[in-house]
Amino acid sequence: MANVTFRSPSMAKDITLYAVAGDRGTLLALAKAHKIPIPFDCGDGNCGSCVVEVEHLTKNAPYGIALTEKEKEMLRQLGKITAAEIENAETNDMPPRHRLACQCFVRNEDIAVIFPGDEVLP
Ligand code: FES
Repeated sequence: MANVTFRSPSMAKDITLYAVAGDRGTLLALAKAHKIPIPFDCGDGNCGSCVVEVEHLTKNAPYGIALTEKEKEMLRQLGKITAAEIENAETNDMPPRHRLACQCFVRNEDIAVIFPGDEVLP
């Protein structure tokens, strides 16, 4: 089971999606499929425009991830990852607070995905 709640100032209200097995692609793919307006450009981890904050809502520890060098470097360039988060990702496979939506896969856990935006859509 995975409930993914999208939250942004650019949306009038939060939107929670129940991601079934077939939806287990990236956060960006899930968002696009449901017309959630996460900004994006390259779709391949190169531009950083899809950066989101991921909040884990279940009490269990987040699923381990293998943060790629590409994503780590982009998050570093954006100032969205700390040295401690890099260490925790490299040592314990723990995800940092910010991720690139195009590189972050939906897992079997409830999360909130927070992304920027300044325009409230009707
Ligand atoms: Fe470019 Fe995700 S869309 S890094």
